[in-house]
Amino acid sequence: MSSFSTDGKSEKSLVKMVSIEKWFGKVHALEGIDFEVRCSEVVGLVGDNGAGKSTLIKVLSGYHLADKGEIYFEGKKVNIASSLHARKLGIETVYQEQALAPNLSISRNIFMGREPVRSLGFMDKKSMDRESMKALQSIGLHLRSPDALITMLSGGERQGVAIARALHFKAKLVILDEPTIALSVREARQVLEFIKQLKREGISVIFITHNLYHVFPSADRFVVLTRGEKIADIQKKDTSIDDLFELIVKPPSHN
Ligand SMILES: Nc1ncnc2c1ncn2[C@@H]1O[C@H](COP(=O)(O)OP(=O)(O)OP(=O)(O)O)[C@@H](O)[C@H]1O
Ligand SMILES: [Mg+2]
Repeated sequence: MSSFSTDGKSEKSLVKMVSIEKWFGKVHALEGIDFEVRCSEVVGLVGDNGAGKSTLIKVLSGYHLADKGEIYFEGKKVNIASSLHARKLGIETVYQEQALAPNLSISRNIFMGREPVRSLGFMDKKSMDRESMKALQSIGLHLRSPDALITMLSGGERQGVAIARALHFKAKLVILDEPTIALSVREARQVLEFIKQLKREGISVIFITHNLYHVFPSADRFVVLTRGEKIADIQKKDTSIDDLFELIVKPPSHN
């Protein structure tokens, strides 16, 4: 559908959410949100606590159903009813902790639910181990052994495992909800490097954070939410950290 290529350039739309509404009881968490991500684009999704950022991406990752609105993926209308469905489309969500199983090994986590099997139905551990180490090395993460448990890894390394998984299974969109929140400066920097790598591989990214210093260098465009409404959708070249900060703390008053 030609209407889904935007800007008249080759920037194709990957996902387009139209007029998304979500209520939690009396809380109007999303009020008619339009949100688009183009191929290979990094979008910074920012806004104060309770603005609706996590709710919006949970609709996209199949965790919540929207009460109203439409979602198009690669131009086709989709009804994302589960996280499995989202993953099958190529949407990987990386939460701070929950995305990984802490008591399983690195390689089990990379293949979770998608394990290669040999003829008798046994998991092919050798190839899982080999492929896991390859995926981790491809993002510059040199971990000692594919058998190490996730609990033994630092926060930054855990994010790395989740991102290596997205790369290995060729995700088209990676959603990171506060990926740097509990990390040391060095680890946060490493996660920002992973994001650059995803972009280089042509993978689109939605990056949610309260830290504008983290998101500003990484993102191509910013979407600002305030109390369930979108108040700005702006290219990096047309804004600054100070402007975004002002928008978040002093949103334009409602009429
Ligand atoms: N499962 C839920 N049940 C009830 N209310 C919810 C639920 N999830 C979110 N909300 C409410 O919806 C609104 C938006 O919450 P959301 O978590 O999307 O905000 P956020 O922008 O991600 O905030 P933060 O930056 O603090 O993570 C808030 O008022 C929140 O209390
Ligand atoms: Mg949130």
